[in-house]
Amino acid sequence: MATPNPAYLWLNGEFTAWDDATVHVSEIAWAGIGAVFEGIRGYWNAEQEELYVFRLREHMERLHRSMKLVRLPIDFSVDELIDATNELLKRNDCREDTYIFPLAYVHDSYNARHSSQLKTELQILTRAMPTHLNTGMTMTGRISSWRRISEDVMPPRVKNIANYRNGQLARSEAMLDGYDTAILLNTQGKVAEAPGACVMFVRDGKLITPDLTSSVLESITRDALIVMARQTLGLEVEERSVDRTELYLADEVFLCGTAAEISPVVSVDKLTVGNGETGPVTRKLERLFEDVLRGATPDYAEWRTPVGLRSAVTA
Ligand SMILES: Cc1ncc(COP(=O)(O)O)c(C=O)c1O
Repeated sequence: MATPNPAYLWLNGEFTAWDDATVHVSEIAWAGIGAVFEGIRGYWNAEQEELYVFRLREHMERLHRSMKLVRLPIDFSVDELIDATNELLKRNDCREDTYIFPLAYVHDSYNARHSSQLKTELQILTRAMPTHLNTGMTMTGRISSWRRISEDVMPPRVKNIANYRNGQLARSEAMLDGYDTAILLNTQGKVAEAPGACVMFVRDGKLITPDLTSSVLESITRDALIVMARQTLGLEVEERSVDRTELYLADEVFLCGTAAEISPVVSVDKLTVGNGETGPVTRKLERLFEDVLRGATPDYAEWRTPVGLRSAVTA
């Protein structure tokens, strides 16, 4: 069922009615190629009547890094973007799990191709997006025939929209072949990422993930899970280059990311991972992660931005 559009979005500093935020059709191609974005989630805590946005500051800081890398002028500070997001979530009365999508691109991008004076358009959208954490959802994966983009072609560590064609090609190949997701190797033949998500696995009680020079996005979820695995679960964590056969022999494999959250992978190239179900470490991390995201535990409070929806109602 189609979800209704929110009442407002934020566009270049103004809260704008959804239907009034239009651009000319000629902008579509070039604006998209040059765009960078963020994907952020807010989690609704029904008991506390509060929406908690996960690591909002870190996401806006990464948006700034992405903009810097593609040389987009930055007109709004991280604090201004945080305030805009909170106010937008209030105005749209987002009392459910919500995806927040800031997007920055070149104004009048066709004509700006040959200009050194770029002007940035910046928008923030919100959309309902339910969680699949702790629902029992699992995935099958295949190693893609597509390689992950490398540093000498495109910048994998930032959220450059054009990078996402790489993951789309891999995902559609995997799905046509009957798998749920792809896992891409980098140009060195080591494990990089899945489309829109990082890869983690457990072997002999250790949590292992490709390091940040393996052609992966500088993922905020990956960073959070590493911290929680070490601090709360007392696990040893290794960030290093990873062979594909390590995934075949792993006890547990999962994907992680803002959209992927924690997505257990129960087979890779039709080789069963562990006993073919979500493994015990993944389950523990999934439970802990959801508690942290929803503010069901006081731990890691510094990662949560409460939007203030409860006070918005009672005010
Ligand atoms: C290519 C790619 N890798 C990894 C991730 C995970 O990053 P994050 O945890 O910051 O969402 C994402 C975004 O979700 C992504 O688009």
